[in-house]
Amino acid sequence: MKALIYQNNSIKFREKENPKIQSSRDAIVKVKLSSICTSDLHIIRGAVPQAKEGIVLGHEFVGEIVELGDGIKNLKIGDRVSSNCETFCGECYFCKRGFINNCEHGGWMLGCKIDGCQAEYIRVPFADTGLTKLPENVTYEKALFVGDILSSGYFGAELCEIKENDTIAVIGAGPVGLCAMASAKTFLAGKIIAIDIDSYRLETAKKLNLADYIFNPTECNIETEIKKLTSNRGADGVIECAGSNSSFEMSWKIARPNSIVAVVAMYEENQILPLPQMYGKNLIFKTGGVDAVHCKTLLDMISKGILNTDFLISKTFKLDEIEQAYKYFENKTDNCLKVAIEY
Ligand SMILES: NC(=O)c1ccc[n+]([C@@H]2O[C@H](COP(=O)([O-])OP(=O)(O)OC[C@H]3O[C@@H](n4cnc5c(N)ncnc54)[C@H](O)[C@@H]3O)[C@@H](O)[C@H]2O)c1
Ligand SMILES: [Zn+2]
Ligand SMILES: [Zn+2]
Repeated sequence: MKALIYQNNSIKFREKENPKIQSSRDAIVKVKLSSICTSDLHIIRGAVPQAKEGIVLGHEFVGEIVELGDGIKNLKIGDRVSSNCETFCGECYFCKRGFINNCEHGGWMLGCKIDGCQAEYIRVPFADTGLTKLPENVTYEKALFVGDILSSGYFGAELCEIKENDTIAVIGAGPVGLCAMASAKTFLAGKIIAIDIDSYRLETAKKLNLADYIFNPTECNIETEIKKLTSNRGADGVIECAGSNSSFEMSWKIARPNSIVAVVAMYEENQILPLPQMYGKNLIFKTGGVDAVHCKTLLDMISKGILNTDFLISKTFKLDEIEQAYKYFENKTDNCLKVAIEY
C-alpha cells in the first residue's frame, strides 16, 4: 500500500506492507478520509521525542472496517467508523474513570508510536473502544474531526463547567478553538467571545455564528473589551486554544473571579503562574490532553445537525498529493484551516 512515512525529521511517500491483525482486539480499517494535525508537524520538527522513526504518520481519520480480531463483538466488517486519536483499553484504573488520555496500555499511539492513518490501511488496537460507528446520515466529511479536534474543543467546553447563559471566552480561533465555540453552544453558553490575532479566522467564527463577539489583541485591549461585556466581572469561563505565551497570560486576566480556565493548548515553553497577582481571584485551572470519551455523543449531535465541522475542510487532496497537502496546511495557504486527504 501507499503510505506517508516519518524519517529523520522529514516525510516520504512510499510503498509499505499492508498491516495485519496482531491481537484479538485489533481491526484493520480501509482509510476513506484522513487529515493532518498540528501534532504531525510537531513530530516532523522533532518536538515529540516518543515518536518512532519509520512509522506512518496521522491519527485523524474515518474509514471502513475490512478485518476484525476475534475478540471484537460491537463492530462488524463493512462498518463505517470514526477513530479516536487515542488508543485506550477501557479497563485500567484511568480508563474506568474516563481518563483515557492516561490509559495504562495506550495513549497517543497511532501515527506516533505505531503506524498511523496516512496510508491506505491502518491497524487499530483496542478497536472496540477506539472506533465508533457512524450514524447512517453522517458522511465521512462530517465525521472526520470527531476523534481529535472536535473532541478537544468539546473537552475544553466540558472542563469549563458552563452554566446556562454564561459568557465564555475562547482564545484562538483555529480548528480547536472553533470546535470549542461550537461545543460551548451545546452547553448553552449565552455569549461566546472569540479572540485571535488572525482576522480571517475571527471573521469565520462570526460568519458561521460560532461567536457573538470577536476581538483581535493587536487591535484592542481584550481585558477592557471583555469587562465592558460582563458588567466589569470578566468571562465566566475561558478556553485557551492558542498556545502562545501572551495567550496564557490573557487567559487568567480575562477570567472573572471564581471561574475556570481550561487550558487545551499545548505550549512549547514553560508558562508563569504569577500567584501574587492572582491572589483573591480564586481561579481554577484545568489542563490536559483530551480525554476523547464522547465520540458517540458528538456523532449523534452531528447526525441531528446540532454540531457541524465540515466547514473546517479548506481543501481536499488525493493521497498521492499528501506531501503537497502538508505544505498547504503548514503554510496556511489560502487561509487554510484543515485539509482532507481522500483515498
Ligand atoms: N489538549 C489536547 O488534547 C489537544 C488536542 C489537539 C490540539 N491541541 C492544541 O490546541 C491548540 C490549538 O490547536 P489548533 O489546531 O486550533 O492550532 P492553530 O495553531 O491552528 O490555532 C491556534 C490559533 O491561535 C491563534 N493565536 C496565536 N497567538 C495568539 C494570541 N496571542 N492571542 C490570540 N490568538 C492567538 C493563532 O492565530 C491560531 O489561529 C494547539 O496548541 C494544539 O497543540 C491540544
Ligand atoms: Zn491531532
Ligand atoms: Zn486503559
